[in-house]
Amino acid sequence: PAAGPLQGRRVLMTAGPTREAIDPVRFIGNRSSGKMGYALAAALGGLGAEVILVSGPTALACPSGVERIAVESAAQMHAAVMARASDCHIFVAAAAVADYRVERPAVAKIKKQAETLTLGLVRNPDILADVAALPQPPFTVGFAAETHDLEAHATAKLERKRLDMIAANHVGDGAGFEVDDNALLVFWRGGQQRLPTMPKASLGVALAQLIGARYAASLAG
Ligand code: C5P
Repeated sequence: PAAGPLQGRRVLMTAGPTREAIDPVRFIGNRSSGKMGYALAAALGGLGAEVILVSGPTALACPSGVERIAVESAAQMHAAVMARASDCHIFVAAAAVADYRVERPAVAKIKKQAETLTLGLVRNPDILADVAALPQPPFTVGFAAETHDLEAHATAKLERKRLDMIAANHVGDGAGFEVDDNALLVFWRGGQQRLPTMPKASLGVALAQLIGARYAASLAG
C-alpha cells in the first residue's frame, strides 16, 4: 500500500497519570490507567510514525517500536516534553496531568500528629498549552475528559489552548477512566467526527487514522 500521512513522521505523546509528591512515600494522583494513550501510541506506530511516549506511572507494557520516557510528576513530564517538542511533527497530550502539585513536599515522611493536616497546592504548568504556544508548534492534539457539556467544553478548550484537534470523552459513572471501552467526539476547526463506543485498542486505530488525515489536511491547507 502507498505510504500514509504518518509514515516517518515524528510523534511526541504524553500518557498516563502524574504523581505529585507529598513526602518521600506519598503522592497525589488520579485514576488514569494510560490505556487510551498507549493504544493510540501503538496505533500511530502501526501507521508508520516514530513515536516517543512520555509516560507517567502505569502498569502497561511499552508498545513495540515505541520509545518510552518514564516520568512521575507533571514538572518532569513538562521538562521531558519541552526538550523534544520543537523536534516533532505532531504532539498528542493524552496524559491526565495533575492540575496542582504540593507546594513544599516534605523531605522526610510526615508523621501523624494533629487531627487535620493542610497541604498547600500550586498550579502545574499546562504542557499542552505550552507546546501549542511555541513559535512554530507541531500539529497539536489534546484530550478533554468531561462529566457534562462535552461539546461546549471541548470546543472552548480547542480555541483557548490553540489546538489543531481535540478528542473528548465522558468520564464519571464508570465511563472513561480505568475501563477497556471508550467513545470519543473529535473536534477541529471546521469539523467533527464521532468515534462510537469500542475497545480502546480499536479506538486508538480510528483516532490515529483521523489524526493522520487532519495532519495531512493541515499541510495541504
Ligand atoms: O484543561 P484540561 O486539563 O481539561 O485539558 C486536558 C488536556 O490538556 C489533555 O490533553 C491533557 O493531556 C492536557 N494537559 C496538559 N498539561 C496539564 C493539564 C492538561 O498537557 N497541566
